[in-house]
Amino acid sequence: MIMEELKCEIEKWLYEYFKDKGTYNKKIYEAMGYSVNIGGKRIRPILMLLTYKMYNKDYKEALPAACALEMIHTYSLIHDDLPAMDNDDLRRGKPTNHKVFGEAIAILAGDGLLNEAFNILFEEALNKDKRWLKVGHLIGQCAGSEGMIAGQVVDILGENKEMDEKELRYMHKNKTGALIKGAILSGAILAGADESDLKILNEFGEKLGLAFQIKDDILDVIGDEKKLGKTIKKDEIHNKSTFVSVYGLDNCKDMCCKLTEQCIELLNNIDKDGSKLQELTLFLLKRDY
Ligand code: IPE
Ligand code: IPE
Ligand code: MG
Ligand code: MG
Ligand code: MG
Repeated sequence: MIMEELKCEIEKWLYEYFKDKGTYNKKIYEAMGYSVNIGGKRIRPILMLLTYKMYNKDYKEALPAACALEMIHTYSLIHDDLPAMDNDDLRRGKPTNHKVFGEAIAILAGDGLLNEAFNILFEEALNKDKRWLKVGHLIGQCAGSEGMIAGQVVDILGENKEMDEKELRYMHKNKTGALIKGAILSGAILAGADESDLKILNEFGEKLGLAFQIKDDILDVIGDEKKLGKTIKKDEIHNKSTFVSVYGLDNCKDMCCKLTEQCIELLNNIDKDGSKLQELTLFLLKRDY
């Protein structure tokens, strides 16, 4: 239930943020708002808020950071779908951004979302304290050339070539794991978690991020397009290296189960109520979208 409540808060915040903005540049807000508001699971902001809530009930303080991270994630999807990258027509059950607004505006909408996210984080940092700077720095690293972008680069360069296990892990750790880990650690930092908890949460984030992308690879093969809201079999069409192409479906399912167990165990080592995060971890294992 709490997850639904958090999702509503996140969506309300994001909707308000883009409403009635712009003059001659109005189109950019339309395009950014389109991709942000058409749905999505909101896993990253929910993870941030649930982690924050383990330490501090008043999660609304962290909402701007959670929504900023969702903006960065949404930008990564808009760009990921572009013809020059995965060339997808369907996202979150709707036509992709470039299908609606054209490639030029879609590129700018992605750029806009990325910048907007850091505007939000800097504004909070100006009005609040150093925790916000720390989180801004962390999110910059997770989204940047040693984080999400690193993974996307390896993903693109990996088309039509064999990838060894080390490179495959590097790709997943970064293209998806980095923002997921960043979400969890940001929530913890904003709520004042201590170093030993941050260490455990770091490991939790890495494992959860890996499980999440392995599951994404599985769903690309066996998922239902309607439920997923995106086109399936794209990895095979683009001859991508994925966990499924390297290890096969059954091994991947096993890996997801093992990683999930390890995630749950890690949370048991924190002296706080991690049950909601554990619930979310299980939901992600079982998800079919
Ligand atoms: C899809 O992310 C892209 C990956 C990083 C695997 P999500 O599965 O979280 O997509 P939305 O936000 O729910 O649309
Ligand atoms: C994308 O991975 C990861 C991002 C950083 C956007 P995928 O290319 O597998 O994501 P989907 O399957 O298109 O959502
Ligand atoms: Mg991709
Ligand atoms: Mg893609
Ligand atoms: Mg995928």
